Amino acid sequence: MGDSATGSGVAAVRIGVVTVSDRASRGEYEDRGGPAVQAYLDRVLATSWQMVGRVIPDEEGLIRATLVELVDEEGCCLVVTTGGTGPAPRDVTPEATAAVLDKELAGFGEAMRAVSRPHVPTAILSRQMAGVRGSALIMNLPGSPKAVRECMDAVFAAVPDCVDLIGGPYLETDPEWVKAHRPH
Ligand code: MTE
Repeated sequence: MGDSATGSGVAAVRIGVVTVSDRASRGEYEDRGGPAVQAYLDRVLATSWQMVGRVIPDEEGLIRATLVELVDEEGCCLVVTTGGTGPAPRDVTPEATAAVLDKELAGFGEAMRAVSRPHVPTAILSRQMAGVRGSALIMNLPGSPKAVRECMDAVFAAVPDCVDLIGGPYLETDPEWVKAHRPH
């Protein structure tokens, strides 16, 4: 299991977890998306990892700046956002993400929406996307904890190979939860 909680020693692998929500950032409700991402990664990653967490409002410039900071300054090899992917006027996480990517990986959004549709008809409302910035993979998830788990399950087997291919660290998963597919 990964050990995001202990913070002991120097963890080589840093992963950004960004909750994008006006209300959570104002403390009007408890952030549940970020902890769901953390719990998922704790369960699935066998590699020790350190979380770099942020809770920010749905402001496109701030989301962009946070993603850039986590990749370029904090050295995260993976950044997972939760929230702000829907069609409402304040939902701008995909736009902010697209603006900082070198390359889009359209398969992530496609796979997550395909898996989610049988669970909820409104899964088609999520514009979640993913892509590469430098040696980091950035991926969007919807805000609900249930959506976080369903969407992560849909794509996570491909994440270690993607991080390998872009020059990031070697991520190991617990095969009981996710069997990483490494064809390269
Ligand atoms: N995907 C899964 N797997 N499970 C869900 O419950 N909720 C949907 C969708 N994707 C959902 C899902 C709903 S109701 C919305 S509005 C969109 O994600 C966007 O959510 P967000 O604005 O919190 O990012």
